[in-house]
Amino acid sequence: MTVMTDAVMKASRSLKRDFGEVENLQVSRKGPGDFVSAADRKAEKILREALEKARPGYGFVMEESGIVVGTDQSHRWHIDPLDGTTNFLHGLPQFAISVGLERDGQVVAGVIYDPAKDELFIAEKGKGAYLNNRRIRVAARNELVDAVVACGLPHIGKGDHGLFLREAASVMGNVGGMRRLGAAALDLAYVACGRMDAYWERGLHSWDVAAGILMIREAGGYISDADGGSDPLNKGSVACGNEIMHRELLKLLKKAKG
Ligand code: IPD
Repeated sequence: MTVMTDAVMKASRSLKRDFGEVENLQVSRKGPGDFVSAADRKAEKILREALEKARPGYGFVMEESGIVVGTDQSHRWHIDPLDGTTNFLHGLPQFAISVGLERDGQVVAGVIYDPAKDELFIAEKGKGAYLNNRRIRVAARNELVDAVVACGLPHIGKGDHGLFLREAASVMGNVGGMRRLGAAALDLAYVACGRMDAYWERGLHSWDVAAGILMIREAGGYISDADGGSDPLNKGSVACGNEIMHRELLKLLKKAKG
């Protein structure tokens, strides 16, 4: 945990310097609606160097540099150096660094840091989840009508827009409120600490969700892929909440799929 938080805090100093400096960040498009900048690349380099130095041989799955197979086949880091790039590049202070450690197919440690709010979420398998050193738990609300549900939107060139609209209509008609905040790692962390009651999104990658999956579980929550499958790390979608919210959300998503 110390190795991970040290690396994350170091990278966050670089992101803080770059926030608001968009004209100097060599922004480019990886695809329609999918941006990358010097801020993402610098933060990823810092994370990779720090983690490699502390744990030589571990593999990497990184948003910007891809996969690096390590000599240690049982450990790999899943790194999103800047989750919420679009927010960041628009000056919206809702973005995070997310680092998850996978050991033999299971996420065993996760760190999500929001530099703009100085909020550090950490989780270690079997040891609970914490926000700035205070234990966190998923919300206890169990009526959909009281629930605030976060989601992610597909955008130009990405995802099944029709399916999303059907799912959103199905959820919207049954819950107290819906939100789209724009950084998947923070959406997961917010469910873990009870700010949101549930969250679903399709079209994600392991670097977006690795740390958050553990955060939810260690906070007493339930998480699956958006179709109820048990491998959200590799399936590219998530649905989560407390036990009841998770189950009810899955029912609404299933209804939308038909
Ligand atoms: C994105 C954010 C966003 C989600 C997208 C992700 P990135 O991550 O998490 O909330 O809707 O699907 O790709 O690209 O900013 O690291």
